[in-house]
Amino acid sequence: MTRRRGSVLLVDDEDKLRKSLGRALRGDGHEVVDAEDARLALHLLGERVFDVLLVDNMMPGMTGLDLIREIVATHETGAPGVVDPQPQIVMMTAYATVESAIEAMKLGAIDYLQKPFEIDELLVTIRRALDHQRLRTDYSYLRSERDEQFDHYGIVGCSHAMQGVIARIELVARTKSTILITGETGTGKELVARAIHDRSAQREMPLVKVNCAAIPETVLESELFGHVRGAFTDAIATKKGKFALADGGTILLDEIGVMTPALQSKLLRVLQEREFEPVGAERPESVDVRVIAATNRDLRQMVADGRFQSDLFYRLNVIPIDIPPLRERRDDVEPLVHHFVQKHAQRTGRSVTGIDPAALAALRLYDWPGNVRELENAVERAVVLSTGPIVTAAAMPMAAAPIPRSIGLPSLMLRRNLEWVERDTIRLALDRAGGVRKDAAALMGISQRALSHYLRKHAID
Ligand SMILES: Nc1ncnc2c1ncn2[C@@H]1O[C@H](COP(=O)(O)OP(=O)(O)OP(=O)(O)O)[C@@H](O)[C@H]1O
Ligand SMILES: [Mg+2]
Repeated sequence: MTRRRGSVLLVDDEDKLRKSLGRALRGDGHEVVDAEDARLALHLLGERVFDVLLVDNMMPGMTGLDLIREIVATHETGAPGVVDPQPQIVMMTAYATVESAIEAMKLGAIDYLQKPFEIDELLVTIRRALDHQRLRTDYSYLRSERDEQFDHYGIVGCSHAMQGVIARIELVARTKSTILITGETGTGKELVARAIHDRSAQREMPLVKVNCAAIPETVLESELFGHVRGAFTDAIATKKGKFALADGGTILLDEIGVMTPALQSKLLRVLQEREFEPVGAERPESVDVRVIAATNRDLRQMVADGRFQSDLFYRLNVIPIDIPPLRERRDDVEPLVHHFVQKHAQRTGRSVTGIDPAALAALRLYDWPGNVRELENAVERAVVLSTGPIVTAAAMPMAAAPIPRSIGLPSLMLRRNLEWVERDTIRLALDRAGGVRKDAAALMGISQRALSHYLRKHAID
């Protein structure tokens, strides 16, 4: 095992001891900063990070134990995401005061040395403390990196489904495999594509996005592959296509389902042979690019209907990521609402801090046909219109929308749902029975009197 060198803050009021210990530690390869009292030590600790704090207990003024308490307290209340971990603490004690040593260990000190001690004992103790510190640092670094990434990429979601999507992003980001992201409109397909690129080895290279649906069919080919001068009437100069621009990085082909069969074939060629021909060019160009395709259509069905090439589908579908609609992961509504309230309050400078629980409950039940985008727009509007610090249902039309046909409704909604089912069932039965009440009642297996009751109740003529 390689010996670890580290930084040590040595605190002792005895000059001679400080000098000799410092020399020994430096001789063992460590960087040593010393302080003659606890106040100075605190000051130094506020300025920089040390791996180990080696501290004497009995000192005039603030004792070693007091210093340890102070350090532990500041680290406990430290802002979340603070990466520099507390140093490992080793206490020295001149007397056989086991109590103070135990007290120090309870507070989190890793070891103690009883004076007088051998230099070798000191060196071994410090090395051990450094090994522990390395583990602690690695762990807190990994954790902070993880938090930062999830914040940074802005993918919010605690549902099982979204956790699965996030796990898959982490897994595939480092590969160069082609990815097909599917999901209804507004579910976050583009967000996921960006997260993948940002976590890939190619993150410094470009991420080029092409929205195939937004570009006229006739222009799409030259947009993707470029053209040479004179290739067509408007081609007054040679132009690079999006594939060439994305070389070395990632290309996001959004709304892939709208591509014409001719273009589908050309795309297939890029995926198979890693080369393409600009419009009007005589020679192919090669590219090294990771392809991420996204669509809200059911490509499998389109293949079955003969509207999408099956070869291309299988080439694209190497790694599928399906993002379920929001109504199938209602657990995500709450964290998303909080995320968007905070985002838009900050962006618009309004002091809105939260949402009324009743409004939140209603938002959970709404079916969100426009998915997360619709939710974000709704929250943004509510934040802007809000008169107080809390968003209320009044600011959100969907919180008062008609009953969604969904599970888990509160009692009022269940009652309204039942009425709706009753009314529809009776209408249907009457319809089937050609308006003859006796037959309608028989169809439903109820008496004519019961039918009359329902007709009155629902004011059906
Ligand atoms: N899980 C999420 N966490 C935070 N924001 C999200 C999430 N999902 C979507 N959004 C936000 O919702 C909006 C719509 O997302 P995005 O554009 O990625 O959806 P899309 O699936 O590509 O939609 P479309 O099919 O209409 O192109 C964006 O503003 C995005 O930041
Ligand atoms: Mg999109």
